[in-house]
Amino acid sequence: MPLVKTADIVVPGRGVAAFNVITVEHAEAVVAGAEEAGAPVICQISENAVRFHHGRLAPIAAATAAVAEASSVPVALHLDHVTDLDLLRQAADHGFGSVMYDGARHDYARNVAHTAEAASWAHSHGLWLEAELGEVGGKDGAHAPGVRTDPDEAVSFVAATGVDALAVAVGSSHAMTDRTAALDHALIRRLRDAVPVPLVLHGSSGVPDDELRQAVREGMVKINIGTALNIAFTGAVRDALPGQVDPRKYLAPARTAMAEVVSHLLKVVAG
Ligand code: G3H
Ligand code: ZN
Repeated sequence: MPLVKTADIVVPGRGVAAFNVITVEHAEAVVAGAEEAGAPVICQISENAVRFHHGRLAPIAAATAAVAEASSVPVALHLDHVTDLDLLRQAADHGFGSVMYDGARHDYARNVAHTAEAASWAHSHGLWLEAELGEVGGKDGAHAPGVRTDPDEAVSFVAATGVDALAVAVGSSHAMTDRTAALDHALIRRLRDAVPVPLVLHGSSGVPDDELRQAVREGMVKINIGTALNIAFTGAVRDALPGQVDPRKYLAPARTAMAEVVSHLLKVVAG
């Protein structure tokens, strides 16, 4: 089916998972896992993944869109963790329904100014804009504590920027390879009650299943997952690699292992 808009599947009151796509096998696994779970899904490509592809968005975006368009379940395309406004503007050309402008490392005033500009551009191009307030740690690959999101500041931030969704720091951290994150559930509930747009949980690979289920029940909507796929991918490659020279011999099990993780986590997020 044709790509759907992110806004059509990120709806308060239920969870939807967004999986990071690095290679075409990731995209194939996300779609296969979503079809198995019978759930809508978001394929997201991060600025870091674009850097990996020599700074070019078009090839991986086109491949991901083509895989998504062959899906029997709704799939939206999202451009993730963008700090470069030139890259942000490319989202209009490749089938994306949404983009995240990540100004979390700026001070509050600068984050507001850049995010408001990004939101205004996104809306004039029919795109949904996600931003971040507080800072989910670990973006450089190391598990590190972030800065929790303050609910009052979040309300002012959304009003001042016009964003459509807000990534909040509530105890998860990017790139965790064990599932030991402890979420601040009281803070999630306070944010849900105060903030008028869908809330996004980043760094969800490190969050145990029960904590994820609870977070969705409490009001988290978009659940971002990346590292969990890479753990599955790399583990399957390690197991399949000895004696092989044909990449298909180890990429096929890697893709299957990722699809199993996608299907499982979609069911967790669905409650
Ligand atoms: O934006 C992407 C996510 O926050 C992924 O984080 O790799 O720790 O699951 P993760
Ligand atoms: Zn993230």
